[in-house]
Amino acid sequence: MLHDIKRVAVVGGAGYLGSALCLHLLDLGYEVASIDAHWFGDEAISSLRSRPSFTSRQIDALHADEVTPLLRGCQAVVWVAGLVGDPACDLDPGFTYGCNYRSALTLAEICKWLGIERFIFASSCSVYGQSNEVARLTEESLTNPLSFYARDKLVCEKALRAMSDETFHPTILRLSTLFGWSNRMRFDLVVNVLTAKACKGETLEICGGGQRRPFLHVKDAARAFASVLSSNLPLVSNEIFNVGGVENNHRILDIANFVCSEIPDTNVEYLSDVVDRRDYDVDFSKITDALSFKTAFSVPEGIAEIRGRMSQSNGINITDSVYINEKTTRQLINEIRRNGYHHAPMVPGLVGSAA
Ligand SMILES: NC(=O)c1ccc[n+]([C@@H]2O[C@H](COP(=O)([O-])OP(=O)(O)OC[C@H]3O[C@@H](n4cnc5c(N)ncnc54)[C@H](O)[C@@H]3O)[C@@H](O)[C@H]2O)c1
Repeated sequence: MLHDIKRVAVVGGAGYLGSALCLHLLDLGYEVASIDAHWFGDEAISSLRSRPSFTSRQIDALHADEVTPLLRGCQAVVWVAGLVGDPACDLDPGFTYGCNYRSALTLAEICKWLGIERFIFASSCSVYGQSNEVARLTEESLTNPLSFYARDKLVCEKALRAMSDETFHPTILRLSTLFGWSNRMRFDLVVNVLTAKACKGETLEICGGGQRRPFLHVKDAARAFASVLSSNLPLVSNEIFNVGGVENNHRILDIANFVCSEIPDTNVEYLSDVVDRRDYDVDFSKITDALSFKTAFSVPEGIAEIRGRMSQSNGINITDSVYINEKTTRQLINEIRRNGYHHAPMVPGLVGSAA
């Protein structure tokens, strides 16, 4: 931990990654301010409220007037928010543009204006899309985004890096596909959903399966953000880092095999249709060499963890909208069409409160 960074704002702090990141930063001794629209409620951070170094506010980052006072006193801002995933982002491009590009860039402008030098942005390895490269893809490799979500990430990356100067130092983390248990669980991520379905005795449907993808435990992702925060500025200023580990680069059918090893007797049906064409093999030597970052968790460990948690979560309904970004986003958009988007709306049925 660097002595000049004491207080960090985590935008998206109640999300799948954000809630794990808030906990990790608090454990490292940082003061943490979570700013989140609470689209999925605020259950994920309720256990943190008793910690004196933690504050949380239900605010959409687009609302500059409300966000600005919360950022005062912060030395770093982390963006782990926005609409996440191809299906959710495809629903309403205008809504996605506001939640992602406009919100992130507004926040970055506020940071620059307030003199907050450090801004860490969660991007995605999805920017590599579909690659025929035999060599693993580095941060210098060609990007080939296949979806609106991935294009949006790339546009944000470019805009943020263009803002960089001696007073503002963005860092871009291109995260692998996340897995593992979090207080805001997502059952729309491939490792999580295949494991959860197997736990419920459901047949796993694998479309194609040969697609290569990098994976990263949600706790390792949190550790990567902490590594950037604790690194000297010249190492991370205006840099892009792929985040993951080559030992967690797998094909989708490898994931199904890992699940079958952990949960024997699981049925797998292989379908020839390739729904998700993303296919890329990523290199992580830059973050290892520059920041000494190494992942701690393998995919099989994540599968075993989810299996254990599923057995304790009696009757959890893995298809509930709170666990599926596309479903919640659909509800949000319908509510906005009915009532307008005046303030961060709550998903009907989810209880959450500003603190
Ligand atoms: N999960 C993955 O596999 C993955 C992979 C690569 C990159 N990422 C990136 O990591 C970040 C976190 O992803 P996640 O899986 O935790 O998603 P998530 O959907 O669980 O969390 C996003 C959180 O941000 C909040 N939010 C969204 N837009 C907001 C706004 N404008 N203002 C305030 N709060 C807002 C939501 O309420 C939610 O709590 C995202 O930026 C995502 O693109 C995730």
